[in-house]
Amino acid sequence: MRICFFCKSPTGIHLKEHRLSLCPTCYPSWVEDQVAKTIKRFKMFVPQEKILLAVSGGKDSLSLWQILTRLGYVVHAFYISLGIKEENYSDISKEKCLIMAQKLSLPLHIVDLQKESGYNLNQVSKAYYKTCSACGVIKRYFMNQITLKENYSVVATGHNLDDEVSTLFGNVLRWDETYLNRQYPVIPPKAGLAKKVKPLIFLSEKQVALYALTSEIDYIRHECPYSTHASSLRYKENLHQLESYNAGTLRFFLTNFLNFRKKQIKEQEEKKEIKEVALYLCSSCQQLSTSKMCKYCSIMQKVAQRAKKNGG
Ligand code: AMP
Ligand code: FES
Ligand code: ZN
Repeated sequence: MRICFFCKSPTGIHLKEHRLSLCPTCYPSWVEDQVAKTIKRFKMFVPQEKILLAVSGGKDSLSLWQILTRLGYVVHAFYISLGIKEENYSDISKEKCLIMAQKLSLPLHIVDLQKESGYNLNQVSKAYYKTCSACGVIKRYFMNQITLKENYSVVATGHNLDDEVSTLFGNVLRWDETYLNRQYPVIPPKAGLAKKVKPLIFLSEKQVALYALTSEIDYIRHECPYSTHASSLRYKENLHQLESYNAGTLRFFLTNFLNFRKKQIKEQEEKKEIKEVALYLCSSCQQLSTSKMCKYCSIMQKVAQRAKKNGG
């Protein structure tokens, strides 16, 4: 019989990749400690900072909200309602965020895509086959906008180990140097762009799910109806198989990549090689952008054209 590493009581939780057994009572503190170490290691933020967390209603971001609160950070959250009508997805996910805000007695900013743009994600999906990619641009746009407008110094997201490794895997498969050279758990602030951090990157999807379960976190159980086509899901299936053959594979892959990136960033800083990209004021929304019209406005322009063609 396995016993908990901390309190020595009998336990059902065994973390093969860490060669560690824990009981359900000690497990949440172990998770919180892992997140604290990640925040410190990558100098993500300090308690005095004004921190914003993007919450989706899923297990990762809602668990992160509770973890950060338990670690002593005062974190406000932001939710964008995309208007996904299938399976009442947006209504249910918003409800889960509101429940957590009430549980923690912390503020939640809510942005409604329909109110902001006149369109919802169902209409976006008619103009964009790759709905998830367009949705990512929309989420990042509002995340950045609210962070800057409300003077938060940093915005955190709930990306976990599986998310980060599947992104890395996709970038490696396509040998996409632009994205490989950008992937890091801390993206420093730039003109018009808020600082972004990912404190959950060393916790697997399973470990976060177990945290949500042992900490009684109420989250939306079903996946976004548009995510079934996403290539990241196929990558994850394959990565899970590799992990099942050899526990720790995903963590090892990400850790070594980040060590390489850290060295690369240091060398670039020393040689002053980090190039400043040209910035424009978006011709439509006037926010700073790397193109004359920002990605969000280009997407919405195409959505509007499509809706007009279809009669509204
Ligand atoms: P996803 O792209 O759905 O895997 O989500 C990754 C992260 O983006 C989540 O952990 C949240 O931090 C953030 N996020 C996703 N959906 C939303 C949303 N509707 N509103 C605000 N943040 C979100
Ligand atoms: Fe954006 Fe699913 S939440 S496509
Ligand atoms: Zn714009």
